[in-house]
Amino acid sequence: MGATNLKGVEKVLVSREEIAAKTKELGKRISKDYEGKVLILVGVLKGGFVFLADLMREITIPVDMDLISVSSYGASTKSSGVVRIMKDIDINVAKKHVLIIEDLVDTGLTLNHLKELFNTRGPASVKICTILDKPSRRKVEINIEYEGIVIPDEFVVGYGLDYDGHYRNLPEVCTLSPSIYKK
Ligand code: IMP
Repeated sequence: MGATNLKGVEKVLVSREEIAAKTKELGKRISKDYEGKVLILVGVLKGGFVFLADLMREITIPVDMDLISVSSYGASTKSSGVVRIMKDIDINVAKKHVLIIEDLVDTGLTLNHLKELFNTRGPASVKICTILDKPSRRKVEINIEYEGIVIPDEFVVGYGLDYDGHYRNLPEVCTLSPSIYKK
């Protein structure tokens, strides 16, 4: 157990070992699929940076990376669907292969928006890689080429994911006691 003794954490849903094994598998697939291509990994802040850092070290071909910061308005345990770009990437992605790296796909609205945004910039391709997926909550159909671990419809924290700015440093993906967010 890592920092799972943080107040409000209920149980471990995805262990460090499961995350590491899936990350290794995805890194291997990405290295094979993008061999000989110019690949840019775009991590979605804030949550996606933890997975990006682990995933890029499992990729054995040359890659460049950048970070984009998005924020969605609304209540903090629900996605509102309105996406605002807080910080854009610096790299010109024209004719390059973009792989968007996310912590969790929930409604799919954030990634849908980001995919459309990158597609306006003349890339060779835009694909998606996420470590966690909650497909039961999807509001828009979205194709995830590199899908990580499917989780049930529960609010989770850790491994980059937060509740109200807390718990991002948990090494595992954990559920939160409802008493924390149902106030
Ligand atoms: P989507 O646009 O609904 O797919 O929202 C995706 C983003 O919402 C994720 O990248 C997270 O930052 C956040 N999010 C969705 N579900 C959870 C959760 O259970 N815990 C923490 N953040 C979440």
